[in-house]
This record gives sequence, C-alpha cells and structure tokens, in this order.
Amino acid sequence: MNEAQALAIKPTGNEFLDDVLEGLRAAPKSLPPKYFYDSVGSQYFDEICNLTDYYPYHTELELLPQVGHEIAQRFHARGLQNLEIVEFGAGSLRKVGILLRALRTVRHFTAIDISQEHLIEACRTLESQYRELTIHPCVHDFTKPLKLSPSDRTRVGFFPGSTIGNLDRDQARTFLRNAGKTLGSASYMIIGVDTQKPEPILHRAYNDGKGVTARFNKNMLVRINRELGGDFTLENFAHHAFYNSELGRIEMHLRSLKEQAVNIDGERFHFGRGESIHTENSYKYRPVDFTQLAKEAGWSTERLWLAPEDLFSISLLKYCGE
Ligand SMILES: C[S@@+](CC[C@H](N)C(=O)[O-])C[C@H]1O[C@@H](n2cnc3c(N)ncnc32)[C@H](O)[C@@H]1O
Repeated sequence: MNEAQALAIKPTGNEFLDDVLEGLRAAPKSLPPKYFYDSVGSQYFDEICNLTDYYPYHTELELLPQVGHEIAQRFHARGLQNLEIVEFGAGSLRKVGILLRALRTVRHFTAIDISQEHLIEACRTLESQYRELTIHPCVHDFTKPLKLSPSDRTRVGFFPGSTIGNLDRDQARTFLRNAGKTLGSASYMIIGVDTQKPEPILHRAYNDGKGVTARFNKNMLVRINRELGGDFTLENFAHHAFYNSELGRIEMHLRSLKEQAVNIDGERFHFGRGESIHTENSYKYRPVDFTQLAKEAGWSTERLWLAPEDLFSISLLKYCGE
C-alpha cells in the first residue's frame, strides 16, 4: 500500500475555514456535509451503519452478493479479466470485499476518501485480508476532478452507500461526468442509490433513539471548534432531520435552541432561536429518474437491481461519454 502517495494528495490551504465562513454568512446558513468526516465522524458513521433502522447500509450489503455474482458472469462472458475497482467515498471498506470475492480477477483497488486516518486504517485491514491485492489509498475530495495514472486495466467504479444522494442533481451529474473521465472509456460503475419510500421508514433512519446521528451531525461543530478555534456551545444546538417531500430528500439541520452568537476566526455569527444550519441532504431517487440522470452524465444503465420492498437500488452503469 502506498501511504506516501495518499499523504501527498491531501488537500492543502484552509479550504475548511473558507467553506465554513461562506456557509455561515449565507442565508439560510449551511455547511458542506463532507466536513462531517474526520476520524471521529467516520467512526460515528460506522455506528450509524450498525443501527437496525439505518436500512440503507444493511439493505445494500444484503443485495451486493447477488449483484456481484451477476456482474461477474457478465464480465466473464465479455472476457473482461484485467480489472481494477475504484471506490469513491470508501469509508470502512466493508462492502468492497463482497465484490472482490465475486470478481476474482481484481488485482488492483483504489480507495478514494476525504477522511485520511480512517482511510489508511481501513486499507490496512483490507490488505491483511487480501494479500494478492495492490491497494492504492487516495485522499481526495471526490467532488473535484481526479486523474489516475494511465492503465490498461478495465476500471470499475464503486460508489455505494447512496453517497451520491448527498449531492444535488447538478452536483450528481457533475460527479458522474468527472468519474467517467477519471475511470476512462470502456469503464463501468456500480452505484448504490436510495429509493423513495414511505416517510416513517425514512424518518426512523435519520432520527435514531440512541442519538448517534445527532452526535454525527454535531461533529461538524466539534471540528469547527477544534480545528478553526470556533466557540459553538454544543448543547445550544439540536439535531433536526426531516423528509422534504417536495424535493424528495431528507434534510439534516442543526437548529439553534436560543438566540446566540458564535465566533469563528474573529467573525461573529448571530443565530435566532429556531434558526438552523443546513448540514446535509440525502436525495431519494425513483429508479427511472436516476437512470435518466446517469444517461445525461454519459452513463448507460446495463442493469438495475432492487432490494426487497424496493428499499434500495444498485445499478451497473457503462460509460459511453457524452
Ligand atoms: C455515507 S458514507 C459511505 C461509506 C461507505 N462507502 C458505505 O457505503 O458504507 C460517505 C463516505 O464518503 C466520504 N466522503 C464524503 N464526502 C466526500 C468527498 N467530498 N470526497 C471524498 N470522500 C467523501 C466519507 O468520508 C465517507 O467515508
């Protein structure tokens, strides 16, 4: 595993501070969800995945063996053997093992994530389980273009967890276009996308009784305090998540419980009682709509699998450029 390479592409400059100041100056206030993920935030996300009510994680995990098996048959029929998997938003790498076991000829794996320490740790664990696999950790913000070294391998993107749902539709199209350029012509993408469903199921998934999602949400403020010298009082903000049916998305907010001011880098931000910081969206797609969006970004859908009760979808996309 090439850790030096991973460290070399770590973003530099104070982009975090710039994004926070810009988001809190805006009306309504917002913060980009990528900043949930330092090593503590990544651990909270793993805890969320262990919650029974957080269906996206275990539903996709249960669907993946069938998906992996069928994709292996397709690739075998096409004589595709020299494969590399490139995972975007890799997290704890709990899902890619299912694909590695199904697609047995994969010898190279590139794992892209913004959460550096967590990524390195997850790659170390994977390395101990798949000795014949060359692992390339890559600390990168996947909303920005990425150039991988030239290769004669067929690259298969993997973007599970409905992470694409955190992007609005324009951002999702841009991500898919960029991913096509990163992976190259003749590439594929296996992508997990959450579906629209009855509101109570969605509500439970983002409002767990143990308060793990609330701690994950507030980790953004903890990071601002620690890394940018902010003075947020955590108890003065409450986790608030709800389904916005008009826009087909879960919205996550941090709501101010009182009138207050917060200082960051010499700048003072006022919060009215009930005013919120919008921290994340999670768009839910009808399969037909996601297929159309992928097409607009240069990807044709070869097959779409639905989990029982249509709880979650996984698509196999083929890049056809634009
Ligand atoms: C919803 S979690 C999904 C994790 C894992 N892929 C799964 O399916 O369980 C999102 C992952 O994407 C990473 N992430 C979020 N925004 C990112 C960005 N802009 N660039 C790179 N990684 C990002 C996070 O660190 C986290 O590991």
